Amino acid sequence: MRTPIIAGNWKMFKTVAEATALVREMRHDLNEIEGVEKVLCPPFTALAAVAELLRPSPIKLGAQDMHWEEKGAFTGEVSPLMLQELCQYVIIGHSERRQYFGETDETVNRKCKSALAHGLLPIVCVGENLAQNEAGQTDKLVRAQVTAALRDLTAAQVTTLVIAYEPIWAIGTGKAATGAGANAVIGLTIRGTVASLYDEATAQATRIQYGGSVSPDNIAEFMTQPDIDGALVGGASLVAAKFVAITQQAAKSKGLR
Ligand code: PGA
Repeated sequence: MRTPIIAGNWKMFKTVAEATALVREMRHDLNEIEGVEKVLCPPFTALAAVAELLRPSPIKLGAQDMHWEEKGAFTGEVSPLMLQELCQYVIIGHSERRQYFGETDETVNRKCKSALAHGLLPIVCVGENLAQNEAGQTDKLVRAQVTAALRDLTAAQVTTLVIAYEPIWAIGTGKAATGAGANAVIGLTIRGTVASLYDEATAQATRIQYGGSVSPDNIAEFMTQPDIDGALVGGASLVAAKFVAITQQAAKSKGLR
C-alpha cells in the first residue's frame, strides 16, 4: 500500500515573514489530516524558519532544488549537507529548472543520486510540453526522462523516492490534465518504465504524483485514479484554505478507492 503524498511547491513566492505566517495558518489543520503525507517546499531562505515551526509535527519539509556536490566554489548553490539539517525531501528536475536554468536529464540524475546518498528523498519531476504532447511524444519523452533520472539507482532507493508527472502545459495554466489521462501516463508510462528497469514489485511500491493546476475542485478526480498517489501543488499551495482542502480531499478520496 502506497501512502498518498501531497506536496506544496511554493516556487519563488513568500518572504520569511510571509512563509511563517502561511505555515501558522495551516499547520493545525494539516496536522489533523491522517493517512496522507504532507510536504511543504518553501524557498531556501524560509527553510530554517519553517523547519522551526514544523518541529514537532508530522508535516515534512522539502527544498526546491539542490546541487549534487557537498561543498565547493559554486556561487549561489545549496548543497545536500546544508539541506540535510532542515529537510526530508528535495524537488529535483522541475520543468521550470529544466526550461530556465539549464537542468538536464544528466544533472537530474546526479542530483537524485546525491540526495539519496545524503538521506534526502527526491521528488523527481518529469513531463512533456504542449508541442510534444500534440505530436504524440509523451510516452517516449517521459520514458526517457524517467530512465535517465533513475540511472544507477537501486530498486530499494527507487521505492523511497517520489516521481511527479507534471505535463508542462498544465502547470500554472488552470488547464489540468484529466484524471484518466494523467493516470494513463503515470500507470502505463512511468510505472511501466520502473517495472521494465527494475521489476513489478518495485514499480508497485513507488509513489507517483500528478502536478499541474491541482485545486480543491479537481484533486478528487486525480486521487480516485488507481495509479496516482498524490499531487505536487503549485499555486494552490500558497493559499492555506486551498492547500488544506486539497489535502483533506486527498485523504477522503483515498478512503473511496
Ligand atoms: P501549479 O504548479 O499547481 O501552479 O500548476 C505545479 C508545479 O509546477 O509544481
